[in-house]
Amino acid sequence: MLPTPRGRPQPRASRLAPHPCSKYPRSIAAETISFARGAPSADILPAESVREAAARTLESDWARALSYGTGRGHPGLCEWIADHHGVEPDQVMVSNGSMEIAALLFRHTVEAGERVLVEQPSYDRTLLLLGRAGAELVGAPLESDGVDVNAAEAACEDAPLKLAHIIPNFHNPAGCTLSADKRRRLVELASERGFTLFEDDPYRLIAFEEPAGETMLEMDGAGRVVHASSFSKTVAPGIRVGYLVGPAETIATLAKRAGETYISPNMLAESIVWELCSSGELERNVKTVNAALRERRDALVGALREKIPEAEFVEPEGGYFLWLDLAEDVDTPALLEAAKDEGVTFVAGPDFMLEGGGHSLRLSFAPVPAEQIPEGVDRIARALERSRSAAAA
Ligand SMILES: Cc1ncc(COP(=O)(O)O)c(C=O)c1O
Repeated sequence: MLPTPRGRPQPRASRLAPHPCSKYPRSIAAETISFARGAPSADILPAESVREAAARTLESDWARALSYGTGRGHPGLCEWIADHHGVEPDQVMVSNGSMEIAALLFRHTVEAGERVLVEQPSYDRTLLLLGRAGAELVGAPLESDGVDVNAAEAACEDAPLKLAHIIPNFHNPAGCTLSADKRRRLVELASERGFTLFEDDPYRLIAFEEPAGETMLEMDGAGRVVHASSFSKTVAPGIRVGYLVGPAETIATLAKRAGETYISPNMLAESIVWELCSSGELERNVKTVNAALRERRDALVGALREKIPEAEFVEPEGGYFLWLDLAEDVDTPALLEAAKDEGVTFVAGPDFMLEGGGHSLRLSFAPVPAEQIPEGVDRIARALERSRSAAAA
């Protein structure tokens, strides 16, 4: 790959030739529009703010930022997070992204064969990690207002649960948000049945309409909730800073394990994030990002209603994702192949399911600028038409 004059890699040319009957000119169709990645396009990453915060941090906090820390992470950032959530600093640990901390938690709390409740659909990496930990995964379906709590209760009746993994706000992949009543019921259930409720909440601040409701962490009086969040969505995914808030003993154990495994997380990245948080820059960035993502969500919803009216979906009120249910004759893994030929990608439903999901797919609007979205949806509509004609032939 040739470097550009500024040393950056050139964007890779699409390997996908446009389908011969594509209505787009070659130059447009050759550029694949990707609704697949759960990450924002580079134009809405806060490069200047991060550059300035890094410069300030290397003036004021350089000795700590450039040294090993402890498994708990940067103390200044831990304090800021504790204050943000109204808890004590010893209830917080920071890591290289929330996925790392989730992996640590699963590895050290879930034994092979123990039962873990997961939403259906759910974040594919979580399903993968829990599967690797040897957990017995018990699916509970999602409804438009979050997980079916009756199914969660029924799962507890069958046999004890060790953990329940719940994504409360602007779900990945489903786009839905858990209602306040269901949050309360899940917190009660965790306390009554003695399982850990893992509140996986990286999208909480990416809210387009109203601020997200009370966390289950705030509702919890029994020390059953561990809350994970991240600066991947509020700053940038490449910063790799996430955190866990929970009972002090759980955090102490996991921080010790973290220290034994990787000494400390990236202190420089955490120092930069701390500077962004305490200077108010984080809040300003969230406003900018939310305005852009809201525009993308609106463009996607409008285009889907116009071009694929058969599609059913919950309109996401924040986050990155929209989950599309199509008619029973559609096989979304096959549709994806046809879509690639048209110059568009997404993730097919089965990736997020223990079983099934073949009539559904996930669209991420975060990586696609609003003006490209109608064209992207048009390509999906064409792929749908083509795969139906191929099936009928
Ligand atoms: C539900 C959920 N949890 C966790 C993560 C991982 O976040 P991080 O970048 O902090 O590791 C993601 C990222 O997309 C996510 O959607």
